[in-house]
Amino acid sequence: MEELFTIRQAEFSTSAGTEGNYPPALPCEIAIVGKSNVGKSSLINRLTNNNKLAKTSAQPGKTRLVNFFLLNRAFYLVDLPGYGFAKASKAEQKSWGELLDRYLSSGRVKHLLMLVDIRHTPTQDDLQMFRYLIYYNIPYTLVATKADKIAKSKRKQEANKRAKELGAPPFAIPFSSETGEGKAELLHRIGQIYADCLPKESDPEKVSAEE
Ligand code: GTP
Ligand code: MG
Repeated sequence: MEELFTIRQAEFSTSAGTEGNYPPALPCEIAIVGKSNVGKSSLINRLTNNNKLAKTSAQPGKTRLVNFFLLNRAFYLVDLPGYGFAKASKAEQKSWGELLDRYLSSGRVKHLLMLVDIRHTPTQDDLQMFRYLIYYNIPYTLVATKADKIAKSKRKQEANKRAKELGAPPFAIPFSSETGEGKAELLHRIGQIYADCLPKESDPEKVSAEE
């Protein structure tokens, strides 16, 4: 049977602003993008079983810096400010945009978890984000958040519909930070992403030694 990927340890590492003061890079860095209030910080807390790790709020615009969390003392999970928070001032929106852009173009991120609300058709900002990650060829996994807000019988179907509306292959993981639904599936995915970041078994020396 396939081994279950678990998060045994999680700690806050650093917050970075527009000056790009990121911590030393590790082979694996996974970041979370999505519109403001979609549940990025809550997802980190649910994955790590620690409600105090990432700060969450019912008010959009809570996360304002690039927050690095070190998991299993091995890889970073990065919480980002959300986009599309209409009530923020133009200056704030610009500065968050720059923060995101600077981080995403830093070349550090190996994989993005892109979150969309399971209940709503993706916004223009979501579409723009999705085009951006396709353009820059950043590997991604789609997660449809707040699955607890719709009937259980519709969750899979609605999650996949959101993916399709973004223009992606029709698959997103239904997830709820409230109930933990989708946690095992997402952890499994993170395990695969982590394994992909590590040096491959098939390095030439090893292959020739086996011949
Ligand atoms: P920003 O930091 O502003 O970009 O937002 P965020 O994406 O980090 O959202 P956050 O995790 O702070 O959650 C926003 C609100 O949604 C909070 O009130 C959460 O309790 C709520 N929330 C997040 N995930 C879920 C979920 O799966 N189900 C339900 N019912 N509520 C959720
Ligand atoms: Mg947040």
